[in-house]
Amino acid sequence: MKQPIKGFSKLSKEGKIEWLVNEHFENPEAARNLLEEYWHSNEKRQQLHDDFIENTVTNYFLPFGVAPNFKINGELYTLPMAIEESSVVAAASKAAGFWLKRGGFKTEIVSTTKIGHVHFNYAGSFDTLQSMFEDWKPRFFEETEELTANMRARGGGILSVELVNRTDVLEDYYQIEARFETCDSMGANFINSCLEQFAQVMKMDVAMRTELSEADRDLQVVMCILSNYTPECVVRAEVSCKIEELNDDKGVTPEEFATKFKRAVQIAEVEPYRATTHNKGIMNGIDAVIIATGNDFRAIEAASHTYAARNGQYSSLTHCTIDDGIFKFWIEIPLALGTVGGLTKLHPMVKLAHELLGHPNSETLMGIVAASGLAQNFGALRALVTTGIQKGHMKMHLFNILNQLEATPEERDEVVKFFEDKVPHHNLVVSKFCEIRGIPVPRSDVKKDK
Ligand code: MEV
Repeated sequence: MKQPIKGFSKLSKEGKIEWLVNEHFENPEAARNLLEEYWHSNEKRQQLHDDFIENTVTNYFLPFGVAPNFKINGELYTLPMAIEESSVVAAASKAAGFWLKRGGFKTEIVSTTKIGHVHFNYAGSFDTLQSMFEDWKPRFFEETEELTANMRARGGGILSVELVNRTDVLEDYYQIEARFETCDSMGANFINSCLEQFAQVMKMDVAMRTELSEADRDLQVVMCILSNYTPECVVRAEVSCKIEELNDDKGVTPEEFATKFKRAVQIAEVEPYRATTHNKGIMNGIDAVIIATGNDFRAIEAASHTYAARNGQYSSLTHCTIDDGIFKFWIEIPLALGTVGGLTKLHPMVKLAHELLGHPNSETLMGIVAASGLAQNFGALRALVTTGIQKGHMKMHLFNILNQLEATPEERDEVVKFFEDKVPHHNLVVSKFCEIRGIPVPRSDVKKDK
């Protein structure tokens, strides 16, 4: 039976690995070798990775691909994409190439405001709270002056502070809701530091007000935290063209394609089952660029899905119209991104990604990321409403299957040639591979495709 370990974090890296491989693996030597194989050969680089998180025992690689030919607001970009899923980079590149000949992507920043809260309980009278808030408000700005100096110098800072009464949803629940402009940084540390200072002001002030009744002094700060929901930090990306320009090689007329494409978007607008998959495809493009550029994909995911449900039902993040012979397809998405701070100065590949994009500021990066999501969605819908996605998807998946089977280069070539005009379902690939190698099909491989 496995035993818990005390003081694991205090062990050296070697000590952690020693415990880990002996405790959890049938073949400790093989596990140790693999962990070490994935270390960086350059000690300084490895130290960097060791220091990003706690208890680092090795590195976890993701492919870093690029999607060229993204024309965004008239500029050409090659997008960095860190993602493990086959077909995503290919689909993005294909969609970029398609729109390159049709004017490219146009993006527009709707707003860049971020929001944070001091969540607190207050059992006293609302009038007293309101009057205290009026006193706190200027002090929130004064007592964060040192914290906000650099941000103000860059044109950002605290935009507004409000008292919000949420006792309609939870007894005694109030918020200090603050809005921030954090310029090119994602702003989490800045916002959280300001909010914690606000809480200090509140607690100190209430403690000093000895004239208040017991109830009116009953204020407890529960927590101070930015919101990852950023409906006021939104970008829009759009593509459009005349319907006849949707002339494609997929065996459908431009009119049929446009109508079916619009219908597919409408289905995602009204049907949450489809909206979830539809938006997942968008996030394929968004997350890949977010990860490559060192931003927080969990925050972006969380915000996007809340935004997709902002009208009470989970819905599509993209929309499509056909008016006066013009096909228009766009995305509107909250993207709180940073191009300074965080990993952007630390991770060598993140630095490279920013250089690849020409060192964009946060607003330009918002546009690039939105275009990537829109391109991905266009590519997925284009395939779905014409050939279906399995053809392209399984072709890419073929290489994963062949890697799993440890095919030699010759076997690989032969299998790829065989499937040139066929859909390479898992079982078919395994059978063909076994036939070429002259071995029986393993029983465990009579399994379903992913
Ligand atoms: C697969 O990762 C993403 C798609 O399912 C998206 C979609 O269905 O729109 C292809």
